Amino acid sequence: MSHAAEVFRKDYRLPAFLVDQVDLAFDIRERTTVQARLQLRRNPAVAIADEPLVLDGRGFDLLEVAVDDRRLGVGDYQRTDDRLQIAVVPDRFTLRIVTQLDPEQNTTLEGLYRSGSMLCTQCEARGFSRITYYPDRPDVLSRFSVRVEADAQRFPVLLSNGNPVESGALPDGRHYTVWDDPFLKPCYLFALVAGDLACIEDHYTTASGRDVALRFYVDHGNEARVPHAMASLKRAMRWDEQVYGLEYDLDLYMVVAARDFNMGAMENKGLNLFNARYVLASPQTATDADYDGIESVIAHEYFHNWTGNRVTCRDWFQLSLKEGLTVFRDQCFSQDLNGEAVHRIQSVRQLRTVQFPEDAGPMAHPVRPDSYVEINNFYTATVYEKGAEIVRMIQTLLGRDTFIAGVQRYLREHDGSAATIEDFLAAHEAESGRNLDGFRRWYSQPGTPLVTITDEYDARSRVYRLRLKQSHAPSPNGAPKQMVPIPIRFALRDHDGRRISVSPQPPLLPAPDLILLEDEEAVLNVPDIGSSPNPSFLLGFSAPVRLQFAYTSDQLVSLLLDEEDGFARWEAAQRLMLNAFFELQASGPGDDTRALLDALQRLAARPVEDRALLAELLRMPSESYLASQVQPLDAARLTSARDALRLRIAQALTGPLSVWSAAAPEEPGASNAARRALANVSLWYLMSTRVNRVLDIGLKQAASPNMTVAFGALTALNDIDCPQREAAMDAFLQRFRHEPLVLDKWFALQAGSAIGQGVERVRSLLQHPDFTPNPNRLRAVLGTFWRENLRAYHRADGAGYRLLGDQIAHLDRSNPQIAARLCDGLLGWKDIVPPQNQLLRAVLVDLSQQPLSADVGEKIGKALL
Ligand code: ARG
Ligand code: ZN
Repeated sequence: MSHAAEVFRKDYRLPAFLVDQVDLAFDIRERTTVQARLQLRRNPAVAIADEPLVLDGRGFDLLEVAVDDRRLGVGDYQRTDDRLQIAVVPDRFTLRIVTQLDPEQNTTLEGLYRSGSMLCTQCEARGFSRITYYPDRPDVLSRFSVRVEADAQRFPVLLSNGNPVESGALPDGRHYTVWDDPFLKPCYLFALVAGDLACIEDHYTTASGRDVALRFYVDHGNEARVPHAMASLKRAMRWDEQVYGLEYDLDLYMVVAARDFNMGAMENKGLNLFNARYVLASPQTATDADYDGIESVIAHEYFHNWTGNRVTCRDWFQLSLKEGLTVFRDQCFSQDLNGEAVHRIQSVRQLRTVQFPEDAGPMAHPVRPDSYVEINNFYTATVYEKGAEIVRMIQTLLGRDTFIAGVQRYLREHDGSAATIEDFLAAHEAESGRNLDGFRRWYSQPGTPLVTITDEYDARSRVYRLRLKQSHAPSPNGAPKQMVPIPIRFALRDHDGRRISVSPQPPLLPAPDLILLEDEEAVLNVPDIGSSPNPSFLLGFSAPVRLQFAYTSDQLVSLLLDEEDGFARWEAAQRLMLNAFFELQASGPGDDTRALLDALQRLAARPVEDRALLAELLRMPSESYLASQVQPLDAARLTSARDALRLRIAQALTGPLSVWSAAAPEEPGASNAARRALANVSLWYLMSTRVNRVLDIGLKQAASPNMTVAFGALTALNDIDCPQREAAMDAFLQRFRHEPLVLDKWFALQAGSAIGQGVERVRSLLQHPDFTPNPNRLRAVLGTFWRENLRAYHRADGAGYRLLGDQIAHLDRSNPQIAARLCDGLLGWKDIVPPQNQLLRAVLVDLSQQPLSADVGEKIGKALL
């Protein structure tokens, strides 16, 4: 087990020393030498006068330490695994640190490392202290100037944050560039890139008329795949000006695409680093979903320039201050640009599939955690997506204009400093005059609340009554759960489908269609109702809760067909599908299955208005979502019932599905993307009939020049054991062997396929000549395996668990962050049927007896508690 210490939020102390200026000089050779000159002074806000200087640092060789140019001997300082301490220093002084790094050998992809032929950095959360000794904490803000020197041929491009101020040639074919960043920043926003990269440049004129150069750096040959990211960036810049009144603040904005990247992307000031999959796209290599992902991640990192960089976090417990808010902002951007309902449905699907289970498992934590062992384990769906939902609820409650004014006030009050979630709430309180204590509780307790609603109609008094109740699963440490404010948007309809308006009254606030459930229980009496109405709750998914209401099948069918709120229609479809799935799993087809098929037939008989929405309405819940709905999980039963449901839907809707699947255009554009989405989901159902003509269509479309069409066909074929699948997969591999991002898709399909011996196939994928242990490839194989291939992963003999456990142990030695991500597949052993749960537990126990990183150690330890 690991011995890494737990860090507590309550232990926060102001930094004892401040850094006014950082001058870094990188000398890139076989190894890289870094000279750091720090202008340090004691923090006047901290009383203790003779506190020693303590700096963070690890994973490099220390060549020199000097205070005010006086070189220190080894007796003048102390070093531990991850610290340097100098007992006696002046109140104000210059510290020179010279370190030597080996980026070639840095497999953690944190600090300075090599990706392809370039060197690049990832400093968030604590990667900067792999470069030099420094107070590696977000509340120490400083001005950075950076000189980079390297071989001119191997590294013609030398980048860092801010503005280039000087560059020139040096003897021996070397050259240098100096960068200066005028904005104060914490070291996690530092970045450096050295490489031989193509540059695509464009321009943006800000609202106030300033010209900003936009530069994307990519591997040579990928230039033609940048336009979509570039256009997305410009849209994001415009949107932030128009909606939040926020303009970009430097004259240069750079984005670098790296092949090897642990996460999605990183918002370093003026120099974003991206996982290449969130930059590069062409219709031949990227799906429509990839296009959407690029647009939203580009926007996310851009929006961080204000919510994250101009105002950063006091400590890492406040991570959601920048991440929850920025995810919320990127979600609103995508909703504004690409249609509200479909985008909202996709966000909610993600939240329910990943965040809800996380919040019910051993790694459950508040959006503002109280403690952590390894901060990288807290870049979670809870901090990001649940954090965004809390921000969304605040907006719902305050109204959009007041909310935006509150964000602007928060940015104004804290510009150039490190803030807390409390500061964010306080700014909204000041702006709106409302008390937000209830939201403090949303930030501080884990778990997904359950809202139970019952209704009754009294024909004599003509009163329709709703009773609402919130409940919370007890927290693992026994702490009592508190009630939280839950905004529930709802609608009532009469029997002709007409909306019944409800006059404002408590607990309705502030709009007549919004119930604010603040206490444990609330009752809403609606007078003057002629007959029992049809209710619909949580329109637009107005709160991140589970909601229980005994909808009848008829009610769900009418919601699916006639509700205006796209999300509520989707929710009705999901409930109908879940009911049918449970029925098939328990006893075979009956009333619920009939109700679903009947509803879908009626839906299909209507003229198609919104193809993208229809595609979402038809889409079946994923294996992993279904897994979160059954307790305990019996994967074999689950996958059989899901297969049966897929086939029944295909048989009941063969006519319309055939029509829709035939219309998969190959040209780009939103309306074509909607047609493709509908065609792909249709083909997916039809394929389950195994009719030869359909299998042939799959084979043919898998060769389409349009990646959405090709990938749709492969996805449809993927679980069908037939020669067409084999042929299509082989052809795809040959065609894209030299396209890493597309090859990831092939690996993911193979790892997720239900056919044959999944465990053996995954094992051979790891030995495949085209396999490399790049993070994207690892996620494609192992992430897809545990999340989307329940049949193979939960094989009765535990071979799937052992395979994942072995890979985690192996990867933990090179890249603990990636290993820890994959641990999520091991955490849920308590939710699995016996005796399989014990096989999974044995893998955890086995791992716990090996030497582990803090990352993996923390997760395994919590899973075994
Ligand atoms: N701040 C980045 C974002 O935009 C995430 C970086 C996290 N990296 C890490 N190693 N924890 O969301
Ligand atoms: Zn972020």
